[in-house]
Amino acid sequence: MNTSENISASDPTAAERKQDHIQLAFQSQVESMHIDRRFSYEPLLSAHPTGDLSPFSFLGKTLRTPIWVSSMTGGTEKAFQINSNLARACRQFGMGMGLGSCRSLLYGNERLQDFDFRNIIGNDLPFYANIGIAQLEILQQQNAFQKIDELTDKLQADGIIIHVNPLQEWLQPEGDKITQAPIDTIRRFLDTTTQKVIIKEVGQGFGKESLRALMQLPVEAIEFAAHGGTNFSKMELLRGDQQKLEVYRQIAQIGHSAEEMVSIFNELKEELGDKVQCQQYIISGGVKHFLDGYYLTEKINAVAVYGQASGLLKYAEQSYEVLEQYLTYQAEGLKLAKAFFKVR
Ligand SMILES: Cc1cc2nc3c(=O)[nH]c(=O)nc-3n(C[C@H](O)[C@H](O)[C@H](O)COP(=O)(O)O)c2cc1C
Repeated sequence: MNTSENISASDPTAAERKQDHIQLAFQSQVESMHIDRRFSYEPLLSAHPTGDLSPFSFLGKTLRTPIWVSSMTGGTEKAFQINSNLARACRQFGMGMGLGSCRSLLYGNERLQDFDFRNIIGNDLPFYANIGIAQLEILQQQNAFQKIDELTDKLQADGIIIHVNPLQEWLQPEGDKITQAPIDTIRRFLDTTTQKVIIKEVGQGFGKESLRALMQLPVEAIEFAAHGGTNFSKMELLRGDQQKLEVYRQIAQIGHSAEEMVSIFNELKEELGDKVQCQQYIISGGVKHFLDGYYLTEKINAVAVYGQASGLLKYAEQSYEVLEQYLTYQAEGLKLAKAFFKVR
């Protein structure tokens, strides 16, 4: 065998690869002004990652991937398929899932199948029901908080997510009016319930004073649902008339990004010390990339996962296989990040 035969036997794709490199070199230029300065790159200190991500405890269960399926839709035929793909992915990757608003199930079981995924996700992972603050307020007025227990029972859910969405309700053509401060409704509910409770926004996040109040409540977790991704003020305006959209569209630009909320949280944690009761956080809202999720979960001074709604929806509505591939890439990317990218 001569030398060139030797090389092609040990590395059979070498010639093709070298040809690709020459062809792609000019398309592969990057500019240093776009360097991602959130990370320091440390190529010397780790081997390539092998094996799985490390399991960890969250909401009383064990997760294998630090991603949360943020609450999405229910109540339509398409939602059934989407949710069923998401629940299946949770089981495969060891993730937790929040359901979309289960309001329709408070008063009947017609759409139960759109939400009834405990059997798919299994008992070992967190699975939470969801209602809006306006519904909770109505239940309070009716002295009917027990309906939340009935809801979580019928879904075999671990607890309830309350979404606090005054802007959405205000801008939604058929929205409900909120007649007392959400923090009061939440406090009253927490005084009487034994449920595990998660509080979230729906895509504008929480400012410092709201976060301060929430962190001091005995809630299981807070989900940021921050500004920077899906925005329900904008969505409701798009459903309404053109003039209303023109007058109110700027409202969609108000809120707090996940990054800002992490730094507000860290400040508050220092300031509040032992007064902080909530110990677990879901960083979500505009988390489009695993590097964002990795950065934010490393940066926050608490136990946290990152959540995605629209990011997962995009793949979950196509097929299970596409969703599975997306999550596989994210999990592999997280392992790579842990090995080589240090958060600054
Ligand atoms: C199609 C869709 C439906 C949603 N429905 C709900 C809901 O019923 N309850 C809720 O708490 N949040 C709901 N959300 C808000 C998400 O949970 C999340 O807070 C928000 O979309 C921001 O995350 P993202 O930027 O990753 O999409 C929904 C989001 C989407 C995209």
